[in-house]
Amino acid sequence: MSDDEVFNTFQRFPRDSVPRTGVEPFIGATEIVGGQLRRDLEPANPTRATPDSIARGRFIYDTYCAVCHGMDGMAGTPVTQRGMPAPPIRMMIPVFSEAHLYNKARYGGPLMPGYAIATTRQERWDLVNYMKSPQFGRSAVQR
Ligand code: HEC
Repeated sequence: MSDDEVFNTFQRFPRDSVPRTGVEPFIGATEIVGGQLRRDLEPANPTRATPDSIARGRFIYDTYCAVCHGMDGMAGTPVTQRGMPAPPIRMMIPVFSEAHLYNKARYGGPLMPGYAIATTRQERWDLVNYMKSPQFGRSAVQR
């Protein structure tokens, strides 16, 4: 039997279409732990900010986030010019915890869309590693 024939049954799934690492717990937007928002504290980054991870994160940022916040993180985009109030985030990044950025990408905000379905867990950590790196927000020319 060839792979194609097996593919139309439930015996095989496309790679990574089935969660194998468990389901992530939902973190409530207003859950407070020790006086701090749990979304700013958890989860902890399980990855390392390797050059590969940062490069993948740049791709994720440029694909999903730059349309509103700009490749340079300064939000001077056609989308904001037409009324979407996405703020410049470049200067805010050092202030935000990694967990905050991860959860922002996962859940979005009152106006910002969430990217839980569009991105994998690894991709969201890659995104965080990129946003926290000195490379974040540099223009294509400076890269
Ligand atoms: C459709 C436009 C849009 C896109 C795309 C978008 N954002 Fe936002 N973002 C917003 C808006 C609007 C706000 C302010 C209101 C809110 O938080 O909902 C915001 C706020 C933020 C903030 C600052 C406020 C906070 O609560 O942290 C960060 C950081 C952020 N976005 C990160 C991201 C990341 C990372 C991505 C890509 C995964 C992304 N955004 C994609 C519109 C967008």
